[in-house]
Amino acid sequence: MKKVITYGTFDLLHHGHVNLLQRARALGDHLTVALSTDEFNALKGKRCFHDYGDRRSVLSAIRYVDEVIPEVSWEQKVEDVQRLGIDVFVIGDDWTGKFDFLKPLCEVVYLPRTPGISTTQIKEELKG
Ligand code: CTP
Repeated sequence: MKKVITYGTFDLLHHGHVNLLQRARALGDHLTVALSTDEFNALKGKRCFHDYGDRRSVLSAIRYVDEVIPEVSWEQKVEDVQRLGIDVFVIGDDWTGKFDFLKPLCEVVYLPRTPGISTTQIKEELKG
């Protein structure tokens, strides 16, 4: 079984997220999403509308997602990949090059982002 992992916050789930999850899952047979906890988001300076439990429940309902685990730090990726026996690490191309250090352990794929949508943009547009 080919195992894939991706990381992110996935607040206010939108079609850009679903596109990413669908393409990530298609790279293997099992997709794990490491979902940023509220504490880790605070560390990153990111404020979410939905708390971890709600983001987790929405993500888990997506057919492309097989498993959700907490993302609590920047440093956990090497350990996750080894412990879970991950074959492919996937993330959007806003992160291109940032996770190349995982290449000795697994395949690293940067997928093109879906243009014209982001959680930040949704929040901004609703403000106006
Ligand atoms: N993503 C994507 N296309 C988009 C938005 C996000 O492919 N239009 C991907 C990101 O590249 C990442 C994953 O979805 O791999 C989770 O991204 P996240 O940061 O949670 O979503 P954003 O909408 O980018 O949120 P923000 O605006 O807060 O950064």
